[in-house]
Amino acid sequence: MSFKGDHILSVSQFDRDNIQHVFQIARSMQPYASRQKRTKVLEGAILGNLFFEPSTRTRVSFGCAFNLLGGEVRETTGMESSALSKGESLFDTARVISSYSDVIAMRHPQSGSVAEFALGSRVPVINGGDGANEHPTQALLDLFTIERELAGSGLTIDGMHIAMVGDLKFGRTVHSLSKLLALYKDVRFTLIAPKELAMPDDIISAIENAGHQVHITEVLEGNVNADIVYQTRIQEERFPSKDEANLYRGKFRLNQEIYTKYCKSNTVIMHPLPRDSRAEANELDNDLNLNPNLAIFRQADNGILVRMALFALTLGVENILTNYECAVPWYSNKHSG
Ligand code: NCD
Repeated sequence: MSFKGDHILSVSQFDRDNIQHVFQIARSMQPYASRQKRTKVLEGAILGNLFFEPSTRTRVSFGCAFNLLGGEVRETTGMESSALSKGESLFDTARVISSYSDVIAMRHPQSGSVAEFALGSRVPVINGGDGANEHPTQALLDLFTIERELAGSGLTIDGMHIAMVGDLKFGRTVHSLSKLLALYKDVRFTLIAPKELAMPDDIISAIENAGHQVHITEVLEGNVNADIVYQTRIQEERFPSKDEANLYRGKFRLNQEIYTKYCKSNTVIMHPLPRDSRAEANELDNDLNLNPNLAIFRQADNGILVRMALFALTLGVENILTNYECAVPWYSNKHSG
């Protein structure tokens, strides 16, 4: 099973077997991510990290994941500072940047843009989010996290119950995650969203056609007694106006009181981040920060492992990491991952 030279554009490229392969490589990255040792397997390689939409975690974790494998990162952020704002096509940008880089990670506000860019690229392109469409690396790290978190309670993805909450219309993370979960067996989906922000019909049909149960509701209370509650932010950047986004902000809040009242004692709380902590939103209250089932920062840590695995796989070095190992000479109390 090889991803060498492949673009990673959509979760539809994955099945249960190659997901497990990615996860096995991701687990082998743990000693490097936690700074027990280093590998220089990608020394000399260059990542073109192109982020044409705001990002903190995804952009920095792609960059750090590449650095942790020994590679260098060249970055461009924002549309204004790029030649795309002078009318350059995605194809031309791809031709040029791909001759400067060994692999490219890219985020862009338009659905389908990363796939279009990949047509012009001579090196693997990894989709870091294309509009409201897909976010495959987030979905893989979410699935990796779900598998790990459930294992602690003796549960598996087959047969689990997930409640997805918030902006299910524009939230690309829940789109990609739902498609991956559809590969498993007997998953119960509770989809909690205002009807204007409901999960797109094609994704609901895909889940149902794969034999899963879907329950759709506009009420959070009483519907979050699931194994996983996956909260999301209102994707205000995809609304015609901020006022329209304000109609839905703060509609579904999860805090410790609601958790205690309506969730199971071991319900795992997830969120792709950033959580909107402004008073009018506060979708995941800070009073959950000490709740041991709050997995949001473990998700972010797992993002490093999964992105390291994807770089190793697309560049074909997943089996030779240890040949390039060396010690970590600096003080480190890292416990990432
Ligand atoms: C998400 C995104 O950009 O789609 N964040 C992320 O990548 N971790 C979700 C969001 O911005 O709300």
